[in-house]
Amino acid sequence: MLRSILIYFSQADWMRRLVTGWGIARKVALRFVAGETLDEAIEAVKKINEKGMLATLDQLGEHTENADQAYSTTEDILVILDAIEQSGVNAGLSVKLSQIGLTLDQKLCEENLTKIIERAKTHGIFVRIDMEDSECLEPTITMYWKMRNTNGFENVGMVIQSYLYRSDEDVAELLEADTRIRMVKGAYKEPPEIAYPKKKDVDLAFDRLVEMMLQRETVNDGSVNHNGESWPPITAVGSHDEARINYAIQRANSLGLTKEKVEIQMLYGIRRDLQEELAHDGYPVRIYVPFGTEWYPYFMRRLAERPANLWFFISSLLRK
Ligand code: FDA
Repeated sequence: MLRSILIYFSQADWMRRLVTGWGIARKVALRFVAGETLDEAIEAVKKINEKGMLATLDQLGEHTENADQAYSTTEDILVILDAIEQSGVNAGLSVKLSQIGLTLDQKLCEENLTKIIERAKTHGIFVRIDMEDSECLEPTITMYWKMRNTNGFENVGMVIQSYLYRSDEDVAELLEADTRIRMVKGAYKEPPEIAYPKKKDVDLAFDRLVEMMLQRETVNDGSVNHNGESWPPITAVGSHDEARINYAIQRANSLGLTKEKVEIQMLYGIRRDLQEELAHDGYPVRIYVPFGTEWYPYFMRRLAERPANLWFFISSLLRK
């Protein structure tokens, strides 16, 4: 119930205006966001790299409203890719397609995404396409295949949400092409017609889908492609849930896969203890580093995931 309300708020403009107007809200949001500027984000990535972890940078923003906005966001993302290259940090890029025009005009989105992946390729950077709500699902998958099959890019991967019933089929198809998949539970409010309403089923599906990815990893000839470039493994576990992470690690062990075949991905500012512990144990750990001024919907989804965050937020407001 609370989760649904917070997800509804994450899309409500009136609430956005209210929350972003509070200085204290910005302060609390910055617990989950690496800063409002690219320089701050690069500094955060340097610190993450120093701790032996990788990163993926995400310029916050979603559902751009016109072609000019989608174009200027694309230009911003090209600057991020250049900054990753110039600073020498070890980071990839995550992108939401609605930021670059998916919900406005698919042709425009395709052009923008092509520019981004092309630039990333020249710098040897991997691009992960985030998954948004179910309205964006089909066009996002179509766009991924265009990048792989029509444009021939290999430095691109996908995100799949285990709460969707259709994900078994999507994963099977994506694995045929050795797609690098980040498995997540799913952060949006979806109806029971298309998504498991119970957490237990979402968790079961998560493990089942990870198992499919690991099985594929056993017959894949490695993360180095024919050009000698190195991309992340097929299996990325995007979760802070220790049971899901342990399941993936134990199954990978039983299948005889080495540690680098399972990348654990977590969000900036969440379970730092676990992030560092896994990196210390020799697992590849990648931190999703969001930054920028458009933090509102991202922040609200983080509140929705964990009621304790909401109480922390409210008590900060009351202390003010
Ligand atoms: P779960 O919600 O069961 O939480 C397990 C434990 O993790 C909690 O008990 C708590 O300790 C901790 N935790 C989880 N969320 C927390 C929070 N907000 N604050 C504090 N502690 C928290 N979703 C999507 O739909 N599309 C996408 O592209 C992505 N991308 C993505 C990238 C990465 C790297 C991650 C880790 C996650 C995403 N997600 C996502 C979000 C994902 O779908 C999911 O909503 C969150 O990861 C929360 O689910 P958990 O798997 O962490 O488990």
